[in-house]
Amino acid sequence: MNNDKKIAAEEAVKEIKNGMVVGLGTGSTAYYAIHAVGALVKNGMQLLTVPTSEQTKQMSIELGIPMVDINTIDAIDVTIDGADEFTQNLELIKGGGGALLREKIVASLTKKQIIVADSSKLVGELGKFKVPVEVIPFAKGYVTQQLKTIGGIGLIRTKDGKEYVTDQGNCIIDADFGLIENPAKLDEQINQIVGVVEHGLFIGLADRVIMAKDGETISFSK
Ligand code: 5RP
Repeated sequence: MNNDKKIAAEEAVKEIKNGMVVGLGTGSTAYYAIHAVGALVKNGMQLLTVPTSEQTKQMSIELGIPMVDINTIDAIDVTIDGADEFTQNLELIKGGGGALLREKIVASLTKKQIIVADSSKLVGELGKFKVPVEVIPFAKGYVTQQLKTIGGIGLIRTKDGKEYVTDQGNCIIDADFGLIENPAKLDEQINQIVGVVEHGLFIGLADRVIMAKDGETISFSK
């Protein structure tokens, strides 16, 4: 599986050309893309990158990858990121690693969003993986109640026995909606709840998914 993550990530990195602004995702599959980008930079390619998390930022510093402040650019040429689930229609669930807010902002500013994954992430219908919902701490009780009214059983995410805290100081409610028949509708419904900052349904944001299975890549495009 890890080899497939690496193969998918390295295939995506082939889309990066000299002079581009590149978004760098978060997680164990994006990890391989970040390393491959580090190698490109080492070999002299001129790139500017935008990390989607503090974890990715730290990796970029260690690998000597140049970064740019997202608020000083108009667009990102290519972003390479992972996913927790994807369908052949390029609908995604993201946020297993907790970076969904910055990931969605980066994806929204990106011209070509490439998702890299091994074959375990391909599903017929989203929803086996719980939908991560980032909320401001003050609203976690209210949002949990409201998620219930739209069919979601939410559980506040914990890590090492404590409430998980995102890079923005928020918490995450992992919400189980069962299989999601209409992801676009659910996207809107969750967005309407006061106190929700963002959620992990990524609809209409991915341009290409590169999946690797048994050492071979398969590409799904819009
Ligand atoms: C982080 C994410 C990751 O892309 C997602 O969790 C997949 O991670 P991995 O490649 O480790 O399976 O959305 O917020």
